[in-house]
Amino acid sequence: MATLSIPDRDFVTTDADQIKAYLSGIGIDYDVWPLAKLAPDADGEAVLQAYADKIEEAKEKGQYTSVDVINVNSLTAGIDEMLAKFNREHWHDEDEVRFTIAGRGLFHIHPAKGPVVAIEVGAGDMIRVPKGTHHWFNLCGTKEIKTIRFFQDKSGWTPHYTGTKAAENYEPVCFGPHYVPHARS
Ligand SMILES: [Fe+2]
Repeated sequence: MATLSIPDRDFVTTDADQIKAYLSGIGIDYDVWPLAKLAPDADGEAVLQAYADKIEEAKEKGQYTSVDVINVNSLTAGIDEMLAKFNREHWHDEDEVRFTIAGRGLFHIHPAKGPVVAIEVGAGDMIRVPKGTHHWFNLCGTKEIKTIRFFQDKSGWTPHYTGTKAAENYEPVCFGPHYVPHARS
């Protein structure tokens, strides 16, 4: 379940339809996939098997040629170095397509027009950040995430940095899976 926030407008929502509609307006695809029954320690092969149908569907639609499974946490060797590559504003020559199975991560999207949008993804969330979109990424507190990645061409997934300090203006705050936005008066 995802949480979308627009920090500059003090706006937060967890409503999937609202999230989908807003993101669609800035060119980001968002969808919720039903979670497969999987053991928490299922390996990459078992994950790909469990989601085989959905993966095929997505591959066809997006012309993705390969998929893999990333499973990291705070104990993963090199995790901080890995994260440091992506927590500054950048873009790729390849779509960034992620289906999250467990854990949580936080994308900040900096659209060409409109305010910066933070989208926190968790289990069941499928997101496509199209190539060229300015964005940055953080993991939430426990630095745990298990996700299926889709590629058209892995070499296109090198980050190109914009060189701005945009990311420094936004706290990488995660709301957590049980966040309920307060009613606004
Ligand atoms: Fe990225």
